[in-house]
Amino acid sequence: MDSRILVKTEKLRKYYVVRSKILKRVIGYVKAVDGVDLEVKEGETLALVGESGSGKSTLGLVLAKLLKPTDGRYIFKGLDITWSLPKELRSKIRIVFQDPYSALNPRLKVRESVIEPLIVQGYSGKEAVEKAIEYLKLVGLNEEHLKVYPHMLSGGQRQRVVIARALITEPDFIVLDEPTSMLDVSTQAQILQLLKEIKIKRNLTYLFITHNLAVARFIADTIAVMFAGQIVEIGEKNNVFSKPLHPYTNSLISAYPPPDPEAIWKPEIPEESSIENTTNINGCRYADRCPYAKNICRREEPPLIEVIKGHKVKCHLYNLI
Ligand SMILES: Nc1ncnc2c1ncn2[C@@H]1O[C@H](COP(=O)(O)OP(=O)(O)OP(=O)(O)O)[C@@H](O)[C@H]1O
Ligand SMILES: [Mg+2]
Repeated sequence: MDSRILVKTEKLRKYYVVRSKILKRVIGYVKAVDGVDLEVKEGETLALVGESGSGKSTLGLVLAKLLKPTDGRYIFKGLDITWSLPKELRSKIRIVFQDPYSALNPRLKVRESVIEPLIVQGYSGKEAVEKAIEYLKLVGLNEEHLKVYPHMLSGGQRQRVVIARALITEPDFIVLDEPTSMLDVSTQAQILQLLKEIKIKRNLTYLFITHNLAVARFIADTIAVMFAGQIVEIGEKNNVFSKPLHPYTNSLISAYPPPDPEAIWKPEIPEESSIENTTNINGCRYADRCPYAKNICRREEPPLIEVIKGHKVKCHLYNLI
C-alpha cells in the first residue's frame, strides 16, 4: 500500500434499517453509504460535498469509528480497522461536529471538557491541565478560559474549545462535519484559517464535510462529490472546479456564485431528491435528474473511472458532456 495513504475505504457501505412503526418489522433500508472507495493521503484535506441526505455525515461517522459499517473495508495507517480499532489507534481518529453548543456539556467547565479525553487515557490531573493550556493556546484561547462554562463563551470560542479537545489526544485524522456552518461569516473565516494553520503545524489529515462550495474551495486540497451514498467525482480542487466531469458536480458549481460579482450568475436550482427514491435503481443514481441520461445510464451502474491522474468520475457519458 502507498505509505502516504492514511485512510482508505473499499466498497464501504452503511445501510440504515427502516422498520414499520407498530410491529417494528424491517420494511426496507436507507442506503446512506453505498459502495464508497476513497483514499485520503497523509496531510491532505479532503472536502466531501453534496446535497442534504447524500450520506456525508454517515460516511464521516463511519470513518470516525462512531458507526459500524454494514459492509466493505476501512484501512487506517495500513491496518484493517473495519470491525475493531486497536487501543493504540483510538486517540488517533477524532471528530468535530457542526454544533459547538451541544458538543460541550453545559454543566462542565472548559477545563473538565478539554482534559476528559486525557483522563480516559490515564493522565494525571496536573499533566492533563498543562496539556489543556497548551492546546487552548494553540486554538487562540488562554488559561483563563479553563475556568468558564460553555454558556460564557461565544459560538466561535466554543468551537475553538471543541477543536482543542479533539486535538489534545494528538490525532492523525480528524473528521470535521460542517464545523463552521453555525457560525457567522467572519467567525467562520477565522476558524477555517485556524484549522488550516493547525493542520500544517500538527501534520494532520482532514475529512472536511460541507455543503458550502466556497468553504470547500478555501480549505480543501481534494474535493469528493457525494450523491445518493456514492462518490460520483473526486479530484484535485482546481481540476474539479475548472473542469467538473460529472453532470451533478456541474450543477453544484453552476449554483455557486463566481468570485467576480459583475459576472452574470444564473443559479441552476437542483430538483429536490430523496435518497429513498434513488436507491433501488440498477443504473446511475443520478440518471433521473441528469439532462444527458441515455438508456445505458438507467441500466448499468457506471464505474468510477480515472480520467486524468487523480481525477475520477462515476459517469458513462463524461466525455460526451
Ligand atoms: N440514524 C439513522 N437512521 C435511519 N436513517 C438515517 C439515519 N441517519 C441518517 N439517515 C438517512 O441516511 C441518509 C444520509 O443521511 P446523512 O445525514 O448521512 O446525510 P448528509 O449528507 O450528512 O445530509 P446533511 O447535509 O443534511 O447533513 C438520509 O436519507 C438520512 O435520512
Ligand atoms: Mg450531515
